[in-house]
Amino acid sequence: MLTDLVRAKVWERASSFYSDRDWAHGRSHIERVTRAAIEIGTQEGADLDIIELAAILHDIFEHRETHSNIEGLKHEVHGAQEARRILTSLGIPSEVTERVCHCIEAHRKRTGPEPRTIEAKCLFDADKLDCIGAIGVIRAAFVSFDHGQEFYKEEKDIEGYKRKNIRPDGTIIDFSKHSSNLEYELSLKQVASRVYTQTGRRLAVERAAFMDEFFERVGKEIKGVL
Ligand SMILES: [Fe+2]
Ligand SMILES: [Fe+2]
Repeated sequence: MLTDLVRAKVWERASSFYSDRDWAHGRSHIERVTRAAIEIGTQEGADLDIIELAAILHDIFEHRETHSNIEGLKHEVHGAQEARRILTSLGIPSEVTERVCHCIEAHRKRTGPEPRTIEAKCLFDADKLDCIGAIGVIRAAFVSFDHGQEFYKEEKDIEGYKRKNIRPDGTIIDFSKHSSNLEYELSLKQVASRVYTQTGRRLAVERAAFMDEFFERVGKEIKGVL
């Protein structure tokens, strides 16, 4: 059982990695994912302590990967290594630490190992749910503005754009040419079909329907037809 003292210590160590101003990957994302992962884990009968520790630590190296230009840095892999150091230094048993680290390594949608445990699946689903729905719309806007992109770009040849600006592993080549609606078309639209748990799927379907409606509407408003 995770005590309040251990929980506070893990948050204290994790907080130094998370910005208060980054809505996409900062503290507020971590808090939302932690709540959603615990909710999914409760419905799925998972070990909530493993889920909570993994959720708090899952993106500690995200900022470093996105902003440091260190070649080969993968936040799910190197973040899991740092999480292992943090949990070990706090006296967390190695069996618990390894289960938490697997969740962190397997939380990314494009790379990394498949989630093998129910806890890893719950974290994966909660993290992906944060990309869609009303929250997904706000997040997509923050990410676009963060990278100096337009929010909405009319693109008639989606396949041609994909060949030019998206690598085979799904990562973006030139962020400045991307936009929220292109991210939605090429990646976020598929999120609901990629979740692992039944609870995650139910929530994802609802959120995806809202996001679908939003982008359809924003496209029409931009064209001036609605
Ligand atoms: Fe991540
Ligand atoms: Fe995340």
